[in-house]
Amino acid sequence: MALPWALAVLSLLPLLDARSLVCTNVTARPITNATLDRIAGKWFYVASSFRDAEFKKSAQEIETAFFYFAPNKTEGTIELREYLTIKDKCVYNFSYLNIQWENGTLSKYESGREHFAHLLLLEDPRTYIFAFHLEDEQNRGMSFYADTPEPTQGQMDEFYGVLACLGISKSEVMHTDWKKNQCEQLEKQHKEERRREEES
Ligand SMILES: *[C@@H]1O[C@H](CO)[C@@H](O)[C@H](O)[C@H]1NC(C)=O
Ligand SMILES: *[C@@H]1O[C@H](CO)[C@@H](O)[C@H](O)[C@H]1NC(C)=O
Ligand SMILES: *[C@@H]1O[C@H](CO)[C@@H](O)[C@H](O)[C@H]1NC(C)=O
Ligand SMILES: *[C@@H]1O[C@H](CO)[C@@H](O)[C@H](O)[C@H]1NC(C)=O
Ligand SMILES: *[C@@H]1O[C@H](CO)[C@@H](O)[C@H](O)[C@H]1NC(C)=O
Repeated sequence: MALPWALAVLSLLPLLDARSLVCTNVTARPITNATLDRIAGKWFYVASSFRDAEFKKSAQEIETAFFYFAPNKTEGTIELREYLTIKDKCVYNFSYLNIQWENGTLSKYESGREHFAHLLLLEDPRTYIFAFHLEDEQNRGMSFYADTPEPTQGQMDEFYGVLACLGISKSEVMHTDWKKNQCEQLEKQHKEERRREEES
């Protein structure tokens, strides 16, 4: 099943094409504690673009999604709580990601394989991108996240700029539809439960 944060397997780098100016700032950098502070918290899955047919199909099934990252710096893991809306139903998933500090990737072990995603931080700290299969033009993909379900035009343009670096056109982008979110109730319930746990 598709994960909004990672839908493809990624092998070793060559990173983004540095020919154009807009591309020069976009490279995967090693992950540090500061990176983790920046990505901790609640995020919305906004849009993605996948060329690999299987991953594309998975991404198409996700109507909307949001999730919480809770990094553990000493352990090198990130607790992930995902709320996906698939076929008008809320699907909740709890898992852990592994951090590869040096090569700037996060990974998840699923269906007998480790899936890697490059974390690309953007100029705007309220957004970021996961990039997949960058070395493979036929299977290249990326997904875009923001701290709001409906980012500004400026934020979207930054994402489109990175897409352009990779030679992916806007027409290949799939957008999520926040109006379809079915997870409000479940999130509220979980918040209540956590609050009660903290109190007791
Ligand atoms: C939830 O996570 C499990 C384990 O990682 C995975 O097998 C399953 O496909 C995931 N479900 C969704 C909807 O992502
Ligand atoms: C990242 O580093 C880990 C070891 O820290 C290695 O197992 C993994 O294959 C590397 N992944 C990539 C995509 O370079
Ligand atoms: C690259 O990053 C620097 C420093 O953050 C910034 O001043 C500059 O405008 C960026 N260039 C582009 C093309 O985004
Ligand atoms: C990152 O944070 C952990 C936990 O707070 C700490 O043990 C570690 O020394 C920090 N690493 C760096 C490079 O500051
Ligand atoms: C992080 O992981 C360590 C080692 O498993 C554990 O002792 C610690 O409580 C964890 N910290 C948080 C904030 O969950």
